[in-house]
Amino acid sequence: MDGQKPLPASPQQSIAPGTLTVRPLLLKPQWMNGLSERLLVSHYVNNYGGALRRLNAIRERLARLDWSRTPTFEINGLKREELIAAGSVVLHEVYFDSLGGQGDNPPTGRTEPPAGLARALERDFGSVMAWHAEFTAMAKALAGGSGWVILAWSERLGRLVNQWASDHAYGLPGATPILAIDMYEHAYHLDFGARAAAYVDQVMTNLNWPRIGARYRVATGEKAEGGLFIPYGAPAQDEARISAEELKAALENDEDRRPVLLDLCLPRDLPRRTDMLAGARMHAPAALERWVEELPRDRPIAVYCICGFQVSGTAVTELRRLGYDARALNGGITAWHAIGGATVPLDTSTYEQLDARELQEARG
Ligand SMILES: [Fe+2]
Repeated sequence: MDGQKPLPASPQQSIAPGTLTVRPLLLKPQWMNGLSERLLVSHYVNNYGGALRRLNAIRERLARLDWSRTPTFEINGLKREELIAAGSVVLHEVYFDSLGGQGDNPPTGRTEPPAGLARALERDFGSVMAWHAEFTAMAKALAGGSGWVILAWSERLGRLVNQWASDHAYGLPGATPILAIDMYEHAYHLDFGARAAAYVDQVMTNLNWPRIGARYRVATGEKAEGGLFIPYGAPAQDEARISAEELKAALENDEDRRPVLLDLCLPRDLPRRTDMLAGARMHAPAALERWVEELPRDRPIAVYCICGFQVSGTAVTELRRLGYDARALNGGITAWHAIGGATVPLDTSTYEQLDARELQEARG
């Protein structure tokens, strides 16, 4: 097999300049501790995705604006909405990134801040417990209202601060959010009804302290640790991943240049699926030897699974080793939903019945 074949350039240039691309979920929504997949996915797709779509639409409008002829009320309205949408995007990304287990393991609720961040919390709040008491009290105080509570690093103040923020804005100028808790009703109502305090306690048992600690280190000028912010099991190289926006643009190409779409799903995850990308063929990852030969060698192949973790990641790594121009959809079909991408009802007619050996492999 020719594993050395040069692959075409990234399709990044095909998306409109200034488009902000969707950030994949790093948490595994089906394996959280007392926060349901339905709640987390709805929040990510509808509220985070909605803010991202709104921000990109506003930016597109602003790029076309004739500043000298536009009425001031229109300028004011667009710039206000841009700030709110941008704040919502950034804070939702901090929120979702701060949740989840390690790799394939669900959150245990027993992890603690890493040493450097723990020392900073002790320095600025007296103890980690005292910080925790203040942070959670502030969040619970927003019950029945809305807004964010943010742990942020302020270079000017020389300390970590807990701050309140409404309207997805009012961030302390110059401060970098390390951790944010979403206190808008959409963040908890599906699971907790009006019990906002129970939601706050549950969020605190789902924190991913290694990622929060890394965010603090980056904010204070230490080196970034990129690997922590890529979905678990996704290919590490940029060229082996494709964003939902890039895929959407690529699918608008001529028929002979469009990527071939491959929908991979573990047997146990089939009940979680209801739809797929139009034109995709659905296969079982464990039956790769049976479906790989149908794939063209002269076309890009976009591979997706539910959230873009190891199901598509492992397959893309193998396909690239075999010389195929395969890329994993960053964030999977969940990120596709978040950008408002169209889908069709799920078609499992091409999905393989697994033999005993494949079943064994599928169970890991
Ligand atoms: Fe939210």
